[in-house]
Amino acid sequence: MSCVVEPTYYADALAEFAGRDTIRAMVPGHSADPAAAPRLAEYFGDSALLLDVTPLLPGLDLGDDSPLQHSVRAAARAFQARRTWFLTNGASQANRIAALAVAQIGTPDQPLLSQRSAHSSLFDGAVIAGLPLAFVMPTIDTVHGINHGITPEAFREALANRPDARAAYIISPSYFGAVADVPVLAEIAHESGIPLIVDAAWAAHFGFHPDLPANPLTQGADLVVSSTHKLGGSLTQSAMLHLGEGPFAEQLEPLIDRAFRMTASTSTSSLLLASLDIARAELCGGRESIGRAIAAADALRAAVRAHPCLDVVSDHYGDFAGIVGHDPLHVAIDVRGLGKTGHEVRNQLMRDHDVYVEIATNTCVVAIIGPGFEPDVERIMAAMGECAASDAVDIVSLESLQLPAPGPAAMRPRDAFFAATELVAWRDAVGRVSADALAAYPPGIPNLLPGEVITQPTVEFLRTIAVSPGGYVRGAADAAVDQIRVVSI
Ligand SMILES: Cc1ncc(COP(=O)(O)O)c(C=O)c1O
Repeated sequence: MSCVVEPTYYADALAEFAGRDTIRAMVPGHSADPAAAPRLAEYFGDSALLLDVTPLLPGLDLGDDSPLQHSVRAAARAFQARRTWFLTNGASQANRIAALAVAQIGTPDQPLLSQRSAHSSLFDGAVIAGLPLAFVMPTIDTVHGINHGITPEAFREALANRPDARAAYIISPSYFGAVADVPVLAEIAHESGIPLIVDAAWAAHFGFHPDLPANPLTQGADLVVSSTHKLGGSLTQSAMLHLGEGPFAEQLEPLIDRAFRMTASTSTSSLLLASLDIARAELCGGRESIGRAIAAADALRAAVRAHPCLDVVSDHYGDFAGIVGHDPLHVAIDVRGLGKTGHEVRNQLMRDHDVYVEIATNTCVVAIIGPGFEPDVERIMAAMGECAASDAVDIVSLESLQLPAPGPAAMRPRDAFFAATELVAWRDAVGRVSADALAAYPPGIPNLLPGEVITQPTVEFLRTIAVSPGGYVRGAADAAVDQIRVVSI
């Protein structure tokens, strides 16, 4: 995708405002005055305070002709969207908006047909919106405990089982960079008369370099969730939601707008908005910097392949149906040969070597190489080498943590969430209906949803993750998952 690098209208206007001699007798209360907020100014620097302005100012973001709106429209052009929304509460906000938007179409019983391995924010959105769900399972790599994409066959079958679905929702790419066949899935959804929502949180950079997979908006996706701060180059928590130019655009646009207003802060951060503006311009002109990151990631992969105890997980993606591509900026490394779990290796890399990677599972760690980033591959590899266990390698035990199959749905997520509930000991929770979403984090994919029957393997999986180094279970009542909130009988 080649795109014109348009000016950073909003970021430029904000910088101009920050440079003026203003008296800011308004919020934020630091008033951009280092004398009023000396600690804040010393910590962040004066410019962070000067650029931190309240919304609805003339010449910045007030009105349809404001620099902010020009920047939002420039982003829509860059990402080839009909319309784009700038978000300051992450792709999590985009997922809640998506749920609230599709909850406004169809009848109350019509489900959203969702890939089961969606991020917890989609399920939170379904609870808030009272949106019924039906599921389609992705292919799963049982060795590494990774959810991949859904196959066209699984999608067709799920739609045949739920012809009343009001919309479909998939994830591409996965947390591990595996890309699904979006054009075919979009075609199938459209044949069934429903829009396809793609959680492309990890794909903000797609389409901006010939060696990257295509932008899902150019492949028929109707609504695309984008976590711009992940690999798009903006500040943490900034994100975008893009509406495609598809057959459902006119219907969806006002529904998204309503949901956006409902989920947005009335004090959106100017720092985050400006970072989205700059990230868009950087991506548009970013072929060279993305190319350098791809080369660095390739160098890391080559070093991993050359190491006797390590392997590149994506080298085996061809074994899985449902994967048609791979993001080269994700470097997933199988560390079983080191005789340690991925969690242990990730922890050791942080603790002993100040090397930080994005995620670990029992068997692997995933490094993310952002556009322009050229990490010291030798240092990473030397640190990895020092993580090797001196004891004998016990590969079998490292493989044994299987992703649990979801339990049957006994209630709708919203009904379970708002039902009378009680906390019970984990052993007593088996067989009961969960009131909460519990997700091993990262990747934040709920292993248990509100309304699902709690199974022994799910509880054991979550408790194992909870005590593993760096492991964390989002949504749990306590850190060790000793107790679980269930629907009262
Ligand atoms: C697939 C997916 N969707 C949505 C999100 C939420 O993104 P954010 O952290 O920007 O809110 C994540 C976060 O990891 C994710 O992996």
